[in-house]
Amino acid sequence: RKAATTAKLKRMKETGNPISIITAYDYPSALLAEEAGVDAILVGDSLGNVVLGYESTIPVTLDDMIYHTRSVVRAAQHTFIITDLPFMTYHGSLDQTLRNAARIMQEGLAKAIKMEGGREICDAVAACTQAGIPVMAHIGLTPQSIHQIGGYKIQGKNSAQAQRLLEDAKALEQAGAFAVVLELVTEQLAAHITEQLSIPTIGIGAGPRCDGQVLVFHDAVGYGSDTAPKKFVKTYAEAGNMIRNGLTQYVQEVKNRTFPTQDHAFRMEDEVAGFLYG
Ligand code: KIV
Ligand code: NA
Repeated sequence: RKAATTAKLKRMKETGNPISIITAYDYPSALLAEEAGVDAILVGDSLGNVVLGYESTIPVTLDDMIYHTRSVVRAAQHTFIITDLPFMTYHGSLDQTLRNAARIMQEGLAKAIKMEGGREICDAVAACTQAGIPVMAHIGLTPQSIHQIGGYKIQGKNSAQAQRLLEDAKALEQAGAFAVVLELVTEQLAAHITEQLSIPTIGIGAGPRCDGQVLVFHDAVGYGSDTAPKKFVKTYAEAGNMIRNGLTQYVQEVKNRTFPTQDHAFRMEDEVAGFLYG
């Protein structure tokens, strides 16, 4: 299986072939995502919430993103991997933005980056694109600006806001973005933007009429502390429950001495201990 490319994703839009993207943050999640056949993996800065336990994505650093991207790349060598530029790493000089983006590519080994924002980041998008760094844009609800926005509000609800988001999307396409994530915008606006752009739209909480969808791994498989129901998420597995049940049984079996048994023990004549971490 060959990894997707930006050209392939664009072709998928043209041929009406929906694009599936899931986030992943480490070796096991990326192995599973690749085995499931996703078109791309996003190493999202949502790792701040779902892996690192922060309340937002704002504390996530460029070093965090590089560290996690490297482990994802080791697992998913046949999948297109996109990594978020975290908070405030693309708002200084273009020179600094390029250096930060370059670190994601050279140290993290991602194939593309993602940035949040509209026309105000178009210079950064153009600079990266011209340097050979593919950029996925992200508009609508942009979690790095959560304190500016003032909460997880649906975006583009009045016509002025909707018009601004459409113009942002067009400007980002002009600047060279290869795709744009639409987060928490109305279904109608997402459909309209999708029609107006030649690059794919990737929705999350944006309804069924985008060119593709993205979900956060932990939300999709029911793994982690955030069990609050989000209307736009569908939970495809109950991984957390399975793991909790397994671990509970493990604790019980240690306590009542049903694990380990003779089958798990070594005898004098045994030599190889099986796989240890060496
Ligand atoms: O960080 C992330 O997971 C994201 C997606 C929700 C688009 O940006
Ligand atoms: Na993100």
